[in-house]
Amino acid sequence: MKKAILLTLFLSLVIAGESKPVHKANVPQLGKNSIDEVLKAMTLQEKAELLVGGDYEVVNGKKGPVLPEAKIGAAGMTKAIPRLGIPCTVLTDGPAGVRISPTRKGDSRTYYATGNPIGTLVASSWDTQCARAVGRNMGNEVLEYGCDVLLAPGMCLHRNPLCGRNFEYFSEDPVLSGTMSGNEILGVQSNGVGTSAKHFVCNNQETFRYQNNSIVGQRALRELYLKNFEFAIRIGNPWTIMSSYNLLNGPCTQESKPLLHDWLRGEAGYKGMVMTDWSGPRNTVNQVNAENDLMEWGLDVQVQDIINAVKDGKLSIDVVNRNVRNLLNYIVKTPHFRHYKASDAPDLKAHAAVAREMAAQGIILLKNREGTLPLVQGQKIALFGIGSYKGFLANGFGSGDVNKPYVVNIFKGLENAGYQVDPDMAELYEDADADINIGPSYARHRASVDNVAIMTIRRNSGEGSDRRNEPGDWKLSPAELNTMKNIADAFHAQGKKLIVILNIGGVIETTSWKNIPDAILLPWQPGEEGGNAIANVISGKVCPSGHLPMTFPLAYEDVPSSKNFPQNDNGGVFDKDKSTIGFTKYDEGIWVGYRYFDTFDKPVSYPFGYGLSYTTFSFSNLKVRYGREVCKAVVTVTNTGKVAGKEVAQLYVSAPKGALEKPKKELRAFAKTRTLQPGESQTLTMTFRTMDMASFNENTNSWVLDPGVYQVKAGQSVEDIKATAPMKISKGVQKKVLAVI
Ligand code: GLC
Repeated sequence: MKKAILLTLFLSLVIAGESKPVHKANVPQLGKNSIDEVLKAMTLQEKAELLVGGDYEVVNGKKGPVLPEAKIGAAGMTKAIPRLGIPCTVLTDGPAGVRISPTRKGDSRTYYATGNPIGTLVASSWDTQCARAVGRNMGNEVLEYGCDVLLAPGMCLHRNPLCGRNFEYFSEDPVLSGTMSGNEILGVQSNGVGTSAKHFVCNNQETFRYQNNSIVGQRALRELYLKNFEFAIRIGNPWTIMSSYNLLNGPCTQESKPLLHDWLRGEAGYKGMVMTDWSGPRNTVNQVNAENDLMEWGLDVQVQDIINAVKDGKLSIDVVNRNVRNLLNYIVKTPHFRHYKASDAPDLKAHAAVAREMAAQGIILLKNREGTLPLVQGQKIALFGIGSYKGFLANGFGSGDVNKPYVVNIFKGLENAGYQVDPDMAELYEDADADINIGPSYARHRASVDNVAIMTIRRNSGEGSDRRNEPGDWKLSPAELNTMKNIADAFHAQGKKLIVILNIGGVIETTSWKNIPDAILLPWQPGEEGGNAIANVISGKVCPSGHLPMTFPLAYEDVPSSKNFPQNDNGGVFDKDKSTIGFTKYDEGIWVGYRYFDTFDKPVSYPFGYGLSYTTFSFSNLKVRYGREVCKAVVTVTNTGKVAGKEVAQLYVSAPKGALEKPKKELRAFAKTRTLQPGESQTLTMTFRTMDMASFNENTNSWVLDPGVYQVKAGQSVEDIKATAPMKISKGVQKKVLAVI
């Protein structure tokens, strides 16, 4: 009788999803018992707690008392449930390096992290090994500083050049962006820590970012924005993905079941965990139902939302269990779960050397009239621009910034490389608070005493705001243009040269001034070792091998999305009572970047994939082979110049005409040579999935691979094709998909 009463009592509690914690002695422990056993032992309160992250205080790797100074200054956490052996885990930004507080109250040690080159510079290397090396740098510092996940890579596509966070991101093309992101993920995760590929998806602006509704057609969504993440998932298998702030075709991404469950887990086969961006409370029940597993940052009200919804029958305990399982599968992989003893002393010196080398690999030579560069040693340099000195930018601002131990600016880098920078200039700029307008007479004076001029143009941008199509941002300011002209006139009058360095986080207007200087170098924002990396290229110690991961248009108005990109900054405070929610119509569809300019023969200032070298290369023996699943291409690259260097082979495919209008050609693969000595050749092999050449038909909700003859093209940019080979596909393919997002 007694047993029957106990059993009834127990069952009634279980049904209410409120199973009482089982007796301590035989409480299942994560790692000792199966996840199912732990899940079964969890109360509803504990499940809800786990799904809602929060702020945290971590003292020496353990969840410590709530002491403000104990915060290591990372972004967030998942909660610990000690009763079941579930540790807290720590989530830290960002895409260029670990972002934690560099000092702690009462602690004499420092906690600086390496400022790596920004995502755009990593992409500019077109070298997957570079992406992995930067990833390894960052992952090791996540591990040794006692964190578990790096909230990176930032990998939204460069839909428009004025997005404030483009510096964190990689490219306008999904294959380049997804491949480089995927390899960076591999690098980070090789340390036994996780990543969070972000921001999923269509977070391509900062204006109104918390509540802007990205209205995107299915074809653009699938061929560009989802394809980008698909490549990163396929290659890197990130432990987590971060759902973005914005709405997508109505619902916010964090609450979209078609996006997070049907496409991400269904079609893309993603097995990891999804966390929100740091939006705070939204519709928690919708988020849980959509299979958004973790709410960051989390508040108790969201815990209560989950408990109440289950009790009121508005949220299935099975759905809650599914998400908790995703969290537990993530937690068992983490250093915190493995009780890893963080040293708090990663090898920052070794990481700095990697950061310097990888930054140099991504630097792009845009112009080099009459071999202005490399610059022979011993010349006296007139170094202009506050960006050469204390205004130099290692990276942009916001969560993509890093608390770095130091920054080597261009002045220091040139001095370290043995160049003589005019000391009067250094003094002039060290005392300046803003850039200095250089007049003709001062420029003439400098031209009479110095051998060569270098002028740095700097642009900053970052989280929370977009850039402007205005002088001083997209365009040079009148003062910058005037200064450049005065310097050029004075030095040219003496038969001397002017080099312009672009220390920028995103594309700027170049058409109106690029004929003035003799050389243009684009190092973007190259991290803490930026000045040394730039000097290595200027001196020729490193032969430039970077190529543009996006298009530099002639004018901003030429960019298709310029008609649908906000110029008014409505700030970004999430305000549920706002009557007018903003929206951005992606009316340009798939016509983003070179897909537009190349297809419709629109002239540009610098095309996608463009980049010069100090040497020259030839492409030969392009051979392609069709496969039902995978196609393969091989091409031989030869150094036909006088100095050693590396080259990128870009593989584009032009598809035959079909029912859908298609881009003239699309990037399908790429590969970079090792350093080739003059006369040396290397045969590169590139593969890509056959169905990646398919187009998406919105009317039939299916991928379509047309039969016919495809032209496979190997080139040094989208405009500079060096070799073409036909590839016949005799039988077309049509593959229906389920989700409409
Ligand atoms: C920010 C950013 C995101 C970052 C997160 C945590 O709002 O959008 O990229 O990782 O919050 O700092």
